[in-house]
Amino acid sequence: MRLSSILAWLVQWTVYGSSAPSFDAASLQRSSEASPTLTNPYPDKPRITFRSDGTFKITVFSDMHWGENPWDAWGPEQDANSTRLMEKVLPSEKPDFVVLNGDLITGENAFKDNATLLIDRIVAPLNAAQIPFCSTQGNHDNQKNITHLQEILREQQVAPLSYTRVAPPGVGGVEGPGNYWIPVFETSTDSAPVLVLWFFDSRGGFSYGDNSTAVPDWVDESVATWIENESNAMNDAWGPPENRAALAFVHIPPHLIQGLQAELNSTKEPGLNADSLGSGSTQSTTDEANLGKDDAFWNSLNANVKNLHAVISGHDHGNEWCIREPSKDVIFCFDKHAGYGGYGEPSWGYGVRNLVFSSTDPNAGVQTWIRLEDGDARANITLDKNYA
Ligand SMILES: *[C@@H]1O[C@H](CO)[C@@H](O)[C@H](O)[C@H]1NC(C)=O
Ligand SMILES: *[C@@H]1O[C@H](CO)[C@@H](O)[C@H](O)[C@H]1NC(C)=O
Ligand SMILES: *[C@@H]1O[C@H](CO)[C@@H](O)[C@H](O)[C@H]1NC(C)=O
Ligand SMILES: *[C@@H]1O[C@H](CO)[C@@H](O)[C@H](O)[C@H]1NC(C)=O
Ligand SMILES: *[C@@H]1O[C@H](CO)[C@@H](O)[C@H](O)[C@H]1NC(C)=O
Ligand SMILES: *[C@@H]1O[C@H](CO)[C@@H](O)[C@H](O)[C@H]1NC(C)=O
Ligand SMILES: *[C@@H]1O[C@H](CO)[C@@H](O)[C@H](O)[C@H]1NC(C)=O
Repeated sequence: MRLSSILAWLVQWTVYGSSAPSFDAASLQRSSEASPTLTNPYPDKPRITFRSDGTFKITVFSDMHWGENPWDAWGPEQDANSTRLMEKVLPSEKPDFVVLNGDLITGENAFKDNATLLIDRIVAPLNAAQIPFCSTQGNHDNQKNITHLQEILREQQVAPLSYTRVAPPGVGGVEGPGNYWIPVFETSTDSAPVLVLWFFDSRGGFSYGDNSTAVPDWVDESVATWIENESNAMNDAWGPPENRAALAFVHIPPHLIQGLQAELNSTKEPGLNADSLGSGSTQSTTDEANLGKDDAFWNSLNANVKNLHAVISGHDHGNEWCIREPSKDVIFCFDKHAGYGGYGEPSWGYGVRNLVFSSTDPNAGVQTWIRLEDGDARANITLDKNYA
């Protein structure tokens, strides 16, 4: 760990200690800062880099669903189990970067006064292991006692190695602030990254407060223009988009994935397939009038971002497969349900998705597999042009 990050850690600890600064959620405002400068969006944090052997490993914890029924015994027991899973997986997988891919908290069971304290518990194993990470938020993270923005601000406050950011004002739509990207460099002194990780806010759930109403469950149309703008700026600063690789994370799968499940071949597309996709399983499918509202996002992502090795989602806890989305010729992958909270069957198991870049060549395939808490691995595939 670099000295600067140790110092940041100490400052954080001195300022906040272990007590929770309380804040009035209603007064929270979206940051009005301008879009961060391209060359250095994280001036106070170490750069994320490949290892010296040219590899880079990401581990994804999805759908942790913390905070269910805190008034019963089983809710807190689930959370203790989820922490145990993280504490087992982190030292054995030794990821270079971790993604928490949405539904961190079951917001329906959260309390207004202390909901964000759950974030402290979720990130504790990452803080202890000093692993850089970031999060997306899911439909259960927007409820009358919690919002995506509250979760992000708390994470930024209590986790020195959180790389989660918020989009500029006007981007992301109602309750959808979590759109941002993270550059990954070959070495910490390079001027251009070899990989860009993109994160999108698929919203959903319910708005904050007593008069809570349903929030649209797709990546807002404004994000499409933002992707184009950011991509153009990256191209100006770093050269053509073909020079770098990309991965994208969004909690709810794009709606086009729903129609692909019927074509799955478990030999070619391995992984648990126990969750039938229906209304609400993918973006913008709960009513006919909104069908396809995520198309603007999907079109812009695939038009502007090159070498996009996969788009990765959680949300449907019983699915682990990866499939090629033919209209854009891009691979979509489900995560692995990591939390003991949230719906599921014990037989599905709990675990993570690992993704390993074996080279900084932006065209090189990415190895990915599901790893269960007990150490078993399955659905090991290479994400490249030959997949499926
Ligand atoms: C916690 O994990 C243990 C061991 O795997 C399991 O037996 C138990 O059912 C889990 N508890 C809950 C509430 O998920
Ligand atoms: C929200 O928080 C308030 C205050 O802590 C609590 O009374 C209420 O039961 C919580 N849940 C919902 C769904 O309002
Ligand atoms: C929040 O407060 C409720 C009600 O007092 C309690 O049951 C719950 O455990 C608290 N949650 C946290 C994360 O502190
Ligand atoms: C919620 O709605 C009720 C009834 O329309 C209204 O009287 C109340 O002021 C609203 N509360 C808030 C916080 O907006
Ligand atoms: C995109 O860039 C244009 C031109 O700089 C700007 O006017 C617009 O606000 C930007 N839109 C978004 C969504 O970033
Ligand atoms: C599934 O894929 C395998 C391997 O490519 C192939 O041999 C098999 O015929 C496929 N099954 C179906 C039903 O298409
Ligand atoms: C996954 O497959 C690759 C290529 O066959 C192999 O090198 C690697 O050891 C496998 N990983 C796991 C965890 O099974």
